[in-house]
Amino acid sequence: MITERRPENSMSVADILSSIRTKEYQIDGDFKGKDILSTEQFTRDDILQVMETAARIELSKEGGSYPECENLLKHKRVAVCFYQPSTRTYMSFMAAAQNMGAYVIGVPGMMQYSSAVKGESLQDTVRTIEAHGTDAIVMRHEADDFVIHAAEAADIPIINAGAGKFEHPTQAMLDLYTITQNSPIPLDAMSVTFVGDLKYGRTVHSLAKVLTVMGVPSMNFISPETTCLPTNLASYLEEKGVVVNQQVVHEPGEIGQLITHTDVIYDTRVQKEWFTSDQDYVDACRAIQITPEVMSNAPEHSILLHPLPRVDEITTDVDLDPRAKYFAQVASGVPVRMALLALVMGADTSRLAR
Ligand code: NCD
Repeated sequence: MITERRPENSMSVADILSSIRTKEYQIDGDFKGKDILSTEQFTRDDILQVMETAARIELSKEGGSYPECENLLKHKRVAVCFYQPSTRTYMSFMAAAQNMGAYVIGVPGMMQYSSAVKGESLQDTVRTIEAHGTDAIVMRHEADDFVIHAAEAADIPIINAGAGKFEHPTQAMLDLYTITQNSPIPLDAMSVTFVGDLKYGRTVHSLAKVLTVMGVPSMNFISPETTCLPTNLASYLEEKGVVVNQQVVHEPGEIGQLITHTDVIYDTRVQKEWFTSDQDYVDACRAIQITPEVMSNAPEHSILLHPLPRVDEITTDVDLDPRAKYFAQVASGVPVRMALLALVMGADTSRLAR
């Protein structure tokens, strides 16, 4: 039996979203001092501003560093505090803050080494981090609703680096950035296919909403029976005019026939940590594996993304396929997170090349 970690959420996703939809949380062209909790805070123009800022930051890159950016957050302090495991998101936020000259503080492995172990509340921890002269807090937590509790406790920006099964907005921004940089198809004519764990995968929830705002007309959702897209998200996308096509797969290889006309395949890990049954987990993994044979059905111009970590839902021989862009996607994390930190901390990026 897989032991399930089921954090106590005091708020439902609907309640979290109704708070976030209030004016207080909306970005509306002004990032300075704002929290980044959900993709629902962003208009199309806000998203374009993040993309444009990230592109200008990336243009200024020289070798492995960003000399024109290195004073953008000088004398600022960024706390990076993760209550769940992470490789990419943690490192790219650390690198992003350091590339702009910020001091970075935090406790690596909050679940093990912070006073959470002693029973301290999230609110008290957030107030403590703020009391150290911190200008922004990047946080990952297993509870969906940590975003609201942290944002309410702090006066400085809270950046959601992954909230339970809810959302992962900064990942969605870098996913979009990778898509626009690598796909020849314009967003308003694009068909995107999500594969894998659409139920627990917070990256899917955030990216589907960002693509909706950006005018992607059609999205396919392929999953095993146990990890279908949440119905409230499917209806939300439909209400916004997206053509939503959901397909359940049972057997290996079945996905092949479902990706023959798609422009972007966004694969995801089956999130073992939320499953209650071992057998359901094993069956889910079996049904959605992407192999070179599956990829032989996808169009030549298509691209394959994955937020990573991958377990074995994409076999390593697929890495050689030029359509596999998941490691380019990882690299996009740094400029995109630099852009987001710079924007919420009010750094002046106007001198970077246009
Ligand atoms: C994902 C996450 O943590 O939500 N990874 C990431 O941040 N790039 C996906 C996952 O854990 O499967």
